[in-house]
Amino acid sequence: MTKIKKSTVFFCKECGYESAKWMGQCPGCKEWNSFVEEPVSTHALKKNGSGNSTVSGTATVLSQITMKEEDRISTGMKELDRVLGGGVVAGSLTLVGGDPGIGKSTLLLQVCRNLSDSGHKVLYISGEESLKQIKMRAMRIGEFSDNLLLLCETNLSIIEQTIKELEPKVVIIDSIQTMYSEEVTSAPGSVSQVRESTGMFLQMAKGLGVSIFIVGHVTKEGTVAGPRVLEHMVDTVLYFEGDRYASYRILRGVKNRFGSTNEIGVFEMREQGLTQVANPSEYMLSGRPEDAAGCVVACTVEGTRPLMVELQALVCNSNFGIPRRQATGMDFNRVNLLMAVLEKRVGVQISNCDAYVNLAGGMKIQEPAVDLGVVMAIISSFRNRPIDEKTVVFGEVGLSGEVRAVSLSEQRLQEAKKLGFTTCIMPRANADALQDKGDDKIKIIGVSNVQEAIELI
Ligand code: TYD
Ligand code: MG
Repeated sequence: MTKIKKSTVFFCKECGYESAKWMGQCPGCKEWNSFVEEPVSTHALKKNGSGNSTVSGTATVLSQITMKEEDRISTGMKELDRVLGGGVVAGSLTLVGGDPGIGKSTLLLQVCRNLSDSGHKVLYISGEESLKQIKMRAMRIGEFSDNLLLLCETNLSIIEQTIKELEPKVVIIDSIQTMYSEEVTSAPGSVSQVRESTGMFLQMAKGLGVSIFIVGHVTKEGTVAGPRVLEHMVDTVLYFEGDRYASYRILRGVKNRFGSTNEIGVFEMREQGLTQVANPSEYMLSGRPEDAAGCVVACTVEGTRPLMVELQALVCNSNFGIPRRQATGMDFNRVNLLMAVLEKRVGVQISNCDAYVNLAGGMKIQEPAVDLGVVMAIISSFRNRPIDEKTVVFGEVGLSGEVRAVSLSEQRLQEAKKLGFTTCIMPRANADALQDKGDDKIKIIGVSNVQEAIELI
């Protein structure tokens, strides 16, 4: 008797981990309750393993591969070009992920406009909106040239046919979760469908030299596979993030085969679509209160770009036995740790105080260089003494209360100078290296421990 073949398989919808049986926790990404059952597709499985099989079987010497300068196309948006590493690479597959409604379709439609204006043939394939809806959005954004072609389609074989016929330079797929292949039996948005579709787009991108952008929604519930399932298949992964209630958006590179992943692009959502924010620091600091205790400007670096942020702290006596601590925009545990350092190393009695630390503007920062800013904001609020508003602070704080050097200090100083700050408090080691950079415009103060820093308040 032959064994009955299994016809379903379980996938983690967060990371795509595959298993023959259901599991409560995914061994791959440690997410709970993320397994979904899907019919097995021999076709999809065969292809997934060798997604890149678009080159012939002959090996080539590196020096014989020719490259042209125009292999990168500018998207007409400096912020996006920077994140991509200098423009769109011909034949690349880029994934743009983000929460629904964050502005992915808007961003890509604007890219379409810029590219088609500069004479490239662009095909925008939407599986979510009708032609009329796209037109409505396009009217808000502006004028479009005839180089932009629109298609509302979700069937992969028709899409493949169309791309081969039209031979566009750039293709946008909005979104990958709506696309389906007839060869896979599961529903659109399932892990196998999403993988199968991406595999096909990968082959088209490499085979035809067309650059493809794929939109992927980040989903928390439901059976729709998230963009993380395809991160390993594509060349570039960009995440579009931002606060729902703030108008700015940050485009972050998470993976990039053609450039650095440290870069961010900053945009603002307006009535007429997204506009680039060339100077995010000014934007973040707008509306800052004057002479308020507990406020300080800290300098952080995103990628290679210094960014000024306003840190606010509110420290007050607690009415309950266990004091409340809250941190918005930064790591809560880091704030707790810094307060413990203050208590133990400086002897400030704040263990029975409520403390709220907030990063104004809805940004999220993880760089330890804001530590010194947090410490100074807390002390400023605790002692009710404002810090001079023309002061910028940066530095990492260690467990014994020492202030440690951070990278890119010169860029941080330049940014502070550019924005008209007059004093810069930084780690002593950085200050020593930058001694000759201070002038009558900006004063450099080096501190070697937390004690020295709070004496300046
Ligand atoms: P959208 O690009 O549809 O999001 P996604 O494709 O990521 O789901 O963006 C939708 C939001 O953007 C919507 O809430 C309205 C807003 N928006 C503007 O504020 N101005 C505009 O010009 C456009 C086109 C959208
Ligand atoms: Mg959309």
